[in-house]
Amino acid sequence: MKKREELIELRQQALLGGGVDRIASQHKKGKLTARERIHFLMDEGSFEEIGSMVMHRSKDFGMETQQFLGDGVITGYGTINGRLVYVFSQDFTVFGGSLSETHAEKICKIMDMAMKNGAPVIGLNDSGGARIQEGVVSLGGYADIFYRNTMASGVIPQISAIMGPCAGGAVYSPAITDFIMMVEHTSYMFVTGPNVVKTVTHEEVTSEELGGASVHGTKSGVAHFTAANEIECINQLKRLLSYMPQNCEEQAPALQYEITNWENETRENLTKIIPENANQPYDMREVINGIIDENTFHEVHKDFAENIVVGFGRLAGRSIGIVGNQPSQLAGCLDIHASQKAARFVRFCDCFNIPLLVFEDVPGFLPGTDQEWNAIITNGAKLLYAFCESTVPRITVITRKAYGGAYDVMNSKHIGSDLNFAWPSAEIAVMGAKGAAEIIFKREIDAAENKETKMQEKTDEYAEIFANPYRAAERGFIDEVILPEETRIKLIKGFQMLENKVATLPRKKHGNIPL
Ligand code: HXC
Repeated sequence: MKKREELIELRQQALLGGGVDRIASQHKKGKLTARERIHFLMDEGSFEEIGSMVMHRSKDFGMETQQFLGDGVITGYGTINGRLVYVFSQDFTVFGGSLSETHAEKICKIMDMAMKNGAPVIGLNDSGGARIQEGVVSLGGYADIFYRNTMASGVIPQISAIMGPCAGGAVYSPAITDFIMMVEHTSYMFVTGPNVVKTVTHEEVTSEELGGASVHGTKSGVAHFTAANEIECINQLKRLLSYMPQNCEEQAPALQYEITNWENETRENLTKIIPENANQPYDMREVINGIIDENTFHEVHKDFAENIVVGFGRLAGRSIGIVGNQPSQLAGCLDIHASQKAARFVRFCDCFNIPLLVFEDVPGFLPGTDQEWNAIITNGAKLLYAFCESTVPRITVITRKAYGGAYDVMNSKHIGSDLNFAWPSAEIAVMGAKGAAEIIFKREIDAAENKETKMQEKTDEYAEIFANPYRAAERGFIDEVILPEETRIKLIKGFQMLENKVATLPRKKHGNIPL
């Protein structure tokens, strides 16, 4: 009987992490504990812990007298909406959630299990970084995790929620995972903290200004999602997971959706979105939400590179990845950040068999020294490469402009798209009519008595020929010109038709994406 009691006593001890005072201090900061986070994340009663009796092996600095069961990270498996996931949750109440050799081993153990059993890994990060008392063994522990993150990339989905500090090299594990979520005001990420920044560059910044959720959600794009609090973050995470398969061999789960009458799938409201004047902006989200199943758009990188919109949605219950130019920001031009954002999203969808739907209204790449000097060439090529390489079912709808190189890049037929539709409002050309007329009719315009009238005449002439979808449709670059209201029907049928698509890439070790 004594032995049973000993185990029960040890379990009680493990539940308390760094003790009641540190738990109270965690709560005072507006943060949940590592166990509370798991409680809210997993289906009730489903979590099974692994490694609750693990303790560190450090003997320096009197560490042998400071032992906490579990060593600052709770690891295990369970279900979210009935689906198996592996999770680690760092416990800030134990040495600030810092990563020791054994702490790292626990994380690696569940990552290895996740790989063998083909299920996602979710990391709830709240850590002061490498356990300072341990020196190089904790650095080795990080590297062991980075290596596994990389091996698991494209095999199982990996999601990182940052719920406290995440500093130093520790940021690189989340960076290799598929999605990073941050909580406003209580989480931050940076390679070097405010003190080092001050010493080296003499800049004075707070942790929040340097690497808070709003900075990473808007400026750097490091965070794909930000949430007002931890519960919202956890709920976002669960929803995100619902669009993904368990691993690269499976399809994402589909929701039951019965089509009783195709007429019901017609969407008349779509006819009102594109303005008469081709230079007027509109919100591409209206097009997206008007076409996909109601309330299913789960936007990724909502506040970063807003000139392109990406996210998950459902079409007749099936999970799809959506990429759309956003005419209401920078006229929908492609720039460095937009290309990076969309390229990474396209690659995630392709890794995990999620079909791609592209909405196109793009006047071209953003001109300027800033863009050129910061390598729009290399970065724009990322998106081009990502589309070229993806083998999932792919459909494009051109709602308005498809100009220049951006026409090619945005999932054109030429780079492997399966079905390309255009609305009657589409303009598919090398460039806008005015710019084109200025170049090819320069001599005629210069020689004219009334230059402005001539300019207008030549602009209209070019627009008459190219500001429509029919030249492209004549060639088969567009499969069908369709009415906005029938788009949903065409897309549902198109993706159904492509359900068993098989496309293979040439045999190679791996490609060399322009990084
Ligand atoms: C050991 C640590 C620790 C660490 C915090 N603690 N960080 N113990 N190793 N890295 C302990 C503290 O001693 C304290 O213990 C408890 O955690 C809570 O810390 P506080 O400082 O009281 O909390 P707070 O004021 O909220 O500040 C949190 C913090 C700060 C901002 C994270 O603790 C901090 O700056 N820590 C050091 C961060 C750092 O430089 N880490 C190394 C980064 S380099 P008690 O006993 O008082 O509760 C790195 C390399 C990785 O990570 C390389 C991978 C390639």
